[in-house]
Amino acid sequence: MQRTRDEILSDIELWAKERLATGEQTIYLGSGGNGRMGVLADGRMEGEEQSSGRGDENDRHTISEIKSNNLKKTTASAKTSSARIPSPPPSAHTPIPPAAGIPAPRTTSAATRNPQPEIRSSQTPNPTPQTPAPWLSATDLPTLQSLISSCTKCELHKTRTNFVFGVGNPNAKVMVIGEAPGKDEDEQGEPFVGRAGQLLNKMLAAINFPREEVFIANILKSRPPGNRDPKPEEVAACEPYLWKQIEIIKPKMILCVGRIAGSNLLKTGDESLAKMRGKVFDFMNAKVMVTYHPAALLRNPNWKHGAWEDLKQFRKLYDELVGNREAGS
Ligand code: URA
Repeated sequence: MQRTRDEILSDIELWAKERLATGEQTIYLGSGGNGRMGVLADGRMEGEEQSSGRGDENDRHTISEIKSNNLKKTTASAKTSSARIPSPPPSAHTPIPPAAGIPAPRTTSAATRNPQPEIRSSQTPNPTPQTPAPWLSATDLPTLQSLISSCTKCELHKTRTNFVFGVGNPNAKVMVIGEAPGKDEDEQGEPFVGRAGQLLNKMLAAINFPREEVFIANILKSRPPGNRDPKPEEVAACEPYLWKQIEIIKPKMILCVGRIAGSNLLKTGDESLAKMRGKVFDFMNAKVMVTYHPAALLRNPNWKHGAWEDLKQFRKLYDELVGNREAGS
């Protein structure tokens, strides 16, 4: 049965109050929104899960996998394409000791898991020497935006209303990356402005990152019709823009929301969300974690417990790396 946003938020608040009453967890109260808590758990264990947040059912993992917390790592399909040549891999970072009640993030070998991109225009169909696309030399976000917003590299330009560049603090230490604009985002030209966006704001506020302090973008900058999954050729055309944004912003940490965002950024192939959650990846000098997509949490409130654990890990790692518990920038 469909639950209303208010019902979900009430559950979240109730759960947060219970947590505070037991004194077992630190809960970050956000200053954004209505001053209400962001995404938290309803106290239940997460069960079988299914999706990346945009309607697909590709993220299944079993309850026993979750409970055993013994998810075997798979080898990344370290794919390369004409648009991407991995540069020498960075070394994996030192594991961070857990705080009370917060499981230590599992770290990955960046050398095998996620090749670092070389930013190039994906439009290199003919072998004659070409002058580099002007956007490649952009050094600030407004310039980049003005140079790429009329992009026609993939079919999606024919159906989009707006090119959804991204929004937020150009000096953000935290970037949040989703999958692709939905209907509301396409209409308004801004990522995460619909129901999922409202919940994302509360998730961020719950770990003391107001929306304005972070930078929010998507793997794709144009809406796939009917919110279907991005096609590989659309990702290949669009992802260099995201890499360029990361290069300009230089975030310390990136939160990918949903399996599709995580697997496309990190090139983890068809690895499930379950296997990406709880790990820390290296990508373009940022630490990356993957959690549930807020749309998935709206559909499956029993996953909020897991999302809250992920968010706490993310904040804890941020505090260790940046040493500032109060602000996201
Ligand atoms: N879902 C996404 O992945 N991105 C948006 O911008 C909105 C919904």
